[in-house]
Amino acid sequence: MSLQSIEPLLCANVSVRYAGKPAILRDVRFDMQPSEVLGLIGQSGSGKSTLAMTILGLLDKKRSHVEGAIKFQGSDLLQLSEHELRALRGRTIALVLQSPLSSLNPALKIRTQLKEAWRAHASGTSAECLRAIRTALENVSLPSNDDFLRKYPSQMSVGQAQRVLIAMAILHQPALLIADEATSALDVITQSEILSLFRALNRSTGMAILYISHDLASVAGICDRIAILHEGAIVECGTTQQIFANPRHEYTQKLMAAMPRIEPSLPANKMWAASVT
Ligand SMILES: Nc1ncnc2c1ncn2[C@@H]1O[C@H](COP(=O)(O)OP(=O)(O)O)[C@@H](O)[C@H]1O
Ligand SMILES: [Mg+2]
Repeated sequence: MSLQSIEPLLCANVSVRYAGKPAILRDVRFDMQPSEVLGLIGQSGSGKSTLAMTILGLLDKKRSHVEGAIKFQGSDLLQLSEHELRALRGRTIALVLQSPLSSLNPALKIRTQLKEAWRAHASGTSAECLRAIRTALENVSLPSNDDFLRKYPSQMSVGQAQRVLIAMAILHQPALLIADEATSALDVITQSEILSLFRALNRSTGMAILYISHDLASVAGICDRIAILHEGAIVECGTTQQIFANPRHEYTQKLMAAMPRIEPSLPANKMWAASVT
């Protein structure tokens, strides 16, 4: 994909603090091009989820203070009303979280949950709804037959449950998908399959992905660029190749040094490429 687009999809410059606490994010600046996969990497507690919630307008306004601007498709997300944000969330900007089984409602069949997600932003006949659901399931390589649609979350593997959540997230063909530690709770094989799925969906649909993780090694293979969040600021941002070949900031260098080296014959700056599918 080209990184030469004139108009970024998203352009953020934002500071956030929770009531009674020092700032969590201080002038966090980054942009995303349409169809780009940007990795946002930072250690636990560095404010990654806070940033995701800020983009989606999900922070409790009474307990947090947000300054700056997040330009997205011509408007500043921080200036939108709750009504406008609700129209955007799940339709233009989608979110996939870490624990698939706790993000799904255990008491409802997945057909019901997918239908609710479709109806939240679309009006149409039951047949149209079902067609959209089946297409989304096929796009995440899940069965789309009635037997599968009748399942409850507990009747699925964790990998299948994560695919259902991703199907839900792509139902309305969002321009931006935010994956917040979406593969962190998965075993390594399922993690690799889901990462490949995100990459395949990015290529086939053109949706941009903000891939948030504490784990540089596991996500690098799917990212066009990587931004490193440290002590409330983005200390380094570059193409995946740049970050791996020439990490400039001390913290990025530490992250690189901490990465496991499975194949001694493979130079560190080539490790990310090994996982690209
Ligand atoms: N609702 C909240 N109220 C107060 N502090 C919070 C809240 N949510 C997160 N924090 C604090 O903000 C910091 C960043 O949290 P978070 O954004 O969840 O980090 P990450 O996702 O990188 O692990 C942590 O110190 C956390 O305790
Ligand atoms: Mg988090």
